[in-house]
Amino acid sequence: MDSSKPAKVVKDVVEAAAGKVTDVLTPDVPGAPGSAPPPFDEPTTPHGPLPPKEEQGAPDTRTPTGAETGVPKIAKGQQGAFLTTANGARLRDTDHSLKAGPRGPVLLQDHHLREKITHFDHERIPERVVHARGAGAHGVFVAYGTAEEVTRAGFLKKGTETPVFVRFSTVLGSRGSADTVRDTRGFATKFYTDEGTFDLVANNMPVFFIQDAIKFPDIIHAGKPHPDREIPQAQSAHDTFWDFVSLHTEAQHHTMWNMSDRGIPRSYRTMEGFGVHTFRLVNEAGATVLVKFHWKPKLGVHSLTWEEAQLIGGIDPDFHRRDLYDAIESGAYPEWELGIQVFPDTPEETFAGIDLLDPTKIVPEELAPVQAVGRLTLNRTPRNFFAETEQVAFHLGHLPPGIDVTNDPLLQGRLFSYLDTQLTRLGGPNFTQIPINRPHAEVNDMLRDGFHQHAVHAGVAPYRPNSLDGGNPFPAGDRENAFVDTPVTVAEAPKVRAAPASFDDHYSQVRLFWLSMSPVEKEHIIRAYTFELGKCYHQAIKERQLQCLANIDPVLCEQVATGLGLPAPKPTVPLAEVQPSPALSQVGREWPADGRMVGIVVDADSDLDGVSEVRRAVFAAGMVPLLVAAHGGTVGDLPVQRTFATGRSVEFDAVLLAGAPAPAPDALPARDDKAGAARSTTVDPRVLLLVEEAWRHAKAIGAWGAGAEVLRQAGVAGTPGVVTGDAGAEVFGAVQQLMGAHRVWERFPASVS
Ligand code: HEM
Repeated sequence: MDSSKPAKVVKDVVEAAAGKVTDVLTPDVPGAPGSAPPPFDEPTTPHGPLPPKEEQGAPDTRTPTGAETGVPKIAKGQQGAFLTTANGARLRDTDHSLKAGPRGPVLLQDHHLREKITHFDHERIPERVVHARGAGAHGVFVAYGTAEEVTRAGFLKKGTETPVFVRFSTVLGSRGSADTVRDTRGFATKFYTDEGTFDLVANNMPVFFIQDAIKFPDIIHAGKPHPDREIPQAQSAHDTFWDFVSLHTEAQHHTMWNMSDRGIPRSYRTMEGFGVHTFRLVNEAGATVLVKFHWKPKLGVHSLTWEEAQLIGGIDPDFHRRDLYDAIESGAYPEWELGIQVFPDTPEETFAGIDLLDPTKIVPEELAPVQAVGRLTLNRTPRNFFAETEQVAFHLGHLPPGIDVTNDPLLQGRLFSYLDTQLTRLGGPNFTQIPINRPHAEVNDMLRDGFHQHAVHAGVAPYRPNSLDGGNPFPAGDRENAFVDTPVTVAEAPKVRAAPASFDDHYSQVRLFWLSMSPVEKEHIIRAYTFELGKCYHQAIKERQLQCLANIDPVLCEQVATGLGLPAPKPTVPLAEVQPSPALSQVGREWPADGRMVGIVVDADSDLDGVSEVRRAVFAAGMVPLLVAAHGGTVGDLPVQRTFATGRSVEFDAVLLAGAPAPAPDALPARDDKAGAARSTTVDPRVLLLVEEAWRHAKAIGAWGAGAEVLRQAGVAGTPGVVTGDAGAEVFGAVQQLMGAHRVWERFPASVS
């Protein structure tokens, strides 16, 4: 096989195996499951496993001790043309148990049955206790060299390319929960550096609910479903969450980030990432600085609207996962710049009066600009979700020389927690030997034995000092690039369970965040609090949270109180005098729209040449066109991706109308709740719904030819962000420009300034 051309190999294999490929609709949009269209008939000619899809990657084929094997990645998958047992013996039947006669009982002797069922019975492992729902991708990080002055970490030296694996996640939901719930998102990156693995285990919000890791079980127990009924799933709109955050007021800052649009990202590709804690960097000369890590997405920071998030939760619970994989498959590789905010490493560990050890505080970018140090590109999807995304294990203690921790008490507890949980989740102490976790640096530890030991250690002396193994392994000295724990001076102090006084300020930065929002973002925050508190049963909890809001901002408090039908309390602390940070707002800039989905409504009367041209233009712009029509198959020669029955506006970032399709035979307004009431006898009601929703969610809409009639009937013609023209290409050009701002923000009148 020519593994450099997997798609061709697949096609040849399938065609040779089946004689004829029946799938005439070449899947030129991403998402088809196999690497080739399947034949209609079950294949009967033995052949090797089909190669993976072109965009799929896999962990490096290193040994458990980090050595390169030179073995192709494909060797980790199934081999050969014939079905075998786990031990490689060929099987002639896997459809029938071994029985005493065709109608007789099953024999205990059936080792194939027992192996197959036993293995299946043990396929599941415990899901992560938090961040259970996630999606991962492979990529590469290239350093700019701009961090060389502050750190000796080799992977940050100019031009160094480091393979990475990234896992994005939600926090609260179970592994099968929906992607678009309101929650914080995890953004964990494993850099396989030559000097040992570096894990940057970040979130899409720069602050955390708690200041001390000892409170982690409390906030998670409060956020997870109620323990009696185990509801609600994957969300914070319930009494226990608000009970905790209204009492434990250091959680208020992170809570407002969750209530803001950051809690419902449009895509993993449009999220920022934050290391949250302050880290310490050490350069070649041993000098140190304090830093905060930031990931800045190339596409900008964008969110869903709340209604979109809710609809998608039902229509496509895998929305973010699908978006990530589809973007990579279509070549719109997600990119971020890694940046650092740099602070002098002073004994006070503060900057501009902000305590750098308090993980509920940010340092506004206006005070300490984020300096770009490298670029991350995700360019391969996992070949196997379980092997890679589920088994990957991140840990803050995975640090290369040049990066060290600080005394942030949240960080310190995390240093314990990850390794501890992974011992159970991954079934023993040897999970660093699982392919996705294998370091790319030489491993020469003295850890031995344990469940699932993959390494075959040589020697007889796994202890130090030894003479029996010639003294190996030796501790590395300064010139051999050892990781050195920075000798930070710790002030003499009594042993106490206490926090510094600076940790008592729970409101000033929440107000800073609130005042930094544009009116439309403030409006969304108000609606989010009103919704979430409105779902609580107990009035005391709502009143207590209103008190917290009063301490943040009176307008916010009054508006939420009005929605809840409760009086707005007066603040119990003076409102903080703060300087807003415009960098925190997501609105008001222009961004590329790579990998976005454009729905194009067509019917047989549409100008299909024009539609073809628009499809090409959409692809050329790095986006994906999805044709929406009354039925599947083709319209003219063009393949249809969504029908009026299977598509929904929330899948699209923009909608183009190349026709005004008449009601299709399956448009049954009285029976199809999606069709709504019969408002038009000339346009399919689901097309009208599509346009109305797209308009309500402030998406760009364009129409040409008969499409303009749909705009008229939907009552949106001539409104902001709705363009018409004579030709599709011209209309798409205008729509593309509108998409740069993410939404047509004028369509959201705000009740606050
Ligand atoms: C700044 C605060 C925190 C951030 C940014 C953060 C981030 C993350 C992320 C991104 C993951 C998912 C990793 C993956 O994709 O596999 C995760 C998992 C986890 N976190 Fe945190 N976390 C924070 C605080 C904490 C604290 C305070 C604790 C405990 C004391 C904790 C315990 C855990 C555990 C047990 C997991 C599951 C790990 C696994 O099963 O592999 N986290 N966290």
